Amino acid sequence: MNIQTRETVAEPRISLRERMGMYTDNALKIGLFGSNCSSGRCVTTVPERWTGNWEDNLALARLADARGIEFILPVGRWKGYGGDTDYMGTTLETITWATGLLANTKNLIVFGTVHAPLFHPIIAAKQFVTADHVSSGRFGLNIVVGWNEDEFQMFGVSQREHEQRYEYAQDWIDAVKRCWGPEEDFEFAGKYIKLAKVRAKPKPFGGSRPLIMNAGASPVGRAFAVKNCDAFFMQSSRTSVEETAQKVASVKAEAVALDRAISVFTVGVITCRPTMKEAEEYHHHVVVDQADWAAADQMLALRRITPQTTPMEEFMRLRGQMAHGNSGVPIVGDPDHIARQLIELSRAGLTGIAVSLVNYADELPYFRDEVLPRLQRAGVRC
Ligand SMILES: Cc1cc2nc3c(=O)[nH]c(=O)nc-3n(C[C@H](O)[C@H](O)[C@H](O)COP(=O)(O)O)c2cc1C
Repeated sequence: MNIQTRETVAEPRISLRERMGMYTDNALKIGLFGSNCSSGRCVTTVPERWTGNWEDNLALARLADARGIEFILPVGRWKGYGGDTDYMGTTLETITWATGLLANTKNLIVFGTVHAPLFHPIIAAKQFVTADHVSSGRFGLNIVVGWNEDEFQMFGVSQREHEQRYEYAQDWIDAVKRCWGPEEDFEFAGKYIKLAKVRAKPKPFGGSRPLIMNAGASPVGRAFAVKNCDAFFMQSSRTSVEETAQKVASVKAEAVALDRAISVFTVGVITCRPTMKEAEEYHHHVVVDQADWAAADQMLALRRITPQTTPMEEFMRLRGQMAHGNSGVPIVGDPDHIARQLIELSRAGLTGIAVSLVNYADELPYFRDEVLPRLQRAGVRC
C-alpha cells in the first residue's frame, strides 16, 4: 500500500518528443562540448585557455541558458594527457557537474557522459533520475563504452574486446531503462549483468525518460546508437557536405528500419573573429604556434598512432587534427562564414552541433551576438 503523508502536486507531463526537441523549435540545435575539462577541446598552451573550473562552468552555463543555447555536453575523462598543460588533467565528474548546472539554469539540457563499465547501472539510473528531477526533465545521458586503456587501469577494470564493450553496454542500458520504467520490482538477467529484487523509485520526471545519446564511430557503435539512443553524434566530413548528408540519411534510414526515430548531431570547433584574417591568425596561433604538441602526441600514442606505426605525412595530419578539437570539424572565420557553415550542416540533415571554443565564456557573447542572428535570418533558428 502506498501511504502518502501529504498531498502531492501533480507533476507536469513531458513527452520524449519534447525532450528530443530540447524544448525549442530551432531546426539547428547548438550545444557546447567539453567545458568540464581543463583546456576544453583545444590542445593549446595559450594563457587564455579554458580552466574548466566550477566558477567558469557555472558562469558559462548561465550565459548559455539566457541566450538560447540548447545543451551542454561534457567529456567523461578520468586522467589527463600530460604534455606542458596536462591537457584535460582537471575534469569535473559529469553527473555531479550536470546536476549542479541544472540546479542553476532554467532551459539548458545538460548531459552526463557515463562510462557504462565503470558505473553500477542501478546507482547510475538513480543519479540520472535525481538530476532529471532537479531540472524538471532536462537531464540527458551520453553513454560511452570507453577506449582509453590507461584510464581503465586506474579503476582496476579490464577493457573488453571492442564488440563486447557494446554487448555489455546493451545490458547496461537495458538495466537502466528497466529502473526508469513502470515496474515496481523486477529481476534482471542479462548476459553480463544480473540483478535481483530491484526496486527503483522515483521514476524520471514527467512520465518520460531522459534523452539518450551515443557517439560510437565503428559499425557496432553506430548500430548500438541506432537501436538504443535518441541522438547519434557523428563526425561530419571535413571536405564534403554531400558526404555528411549521405551519412546522416543512412543513420536515419537504419533507425526507420527498426521503427525508431533518431536525431543526428555533429561536433565542431569554432574560431569566430570579425574578419577572416583575424580568425585564421588566431586559429594558427592557438593550435599550431602554441599547441601543446607533447599532449597531442600522447593522445595519439594512446590510440597507437606514432611515427613508428604511421607514415609521417599521415601522422602529421592526425597530429594537427588532434591539436584542434580531435573529432570536431574546425570552423574558422568571420560571422558570415561561420553562419554559412552551420547552415550547410543543417541543410545536410543534422539536428545540431556541439561546439567548442578556446575560452568558452569569453567567446560565446560574440558568437551569440553575431552568428545566432544570421542563423535566425536564414531560418534555421527562431
Ligand atoms: C561527441 C562525442 C563525445 C564523446 N565523448 C566521449 C567521452 O566523453 N569519453 C570517452 O571515453 N569517449 C567519448 N567519445 C568517444 C566515443 O564514445 C567512441 O568511443 C568513439 O567515437 C569510438 O567509437 P567506437 O566505440 O564505436 O569505436 C565521444 C565521441 C564523440 C564524437
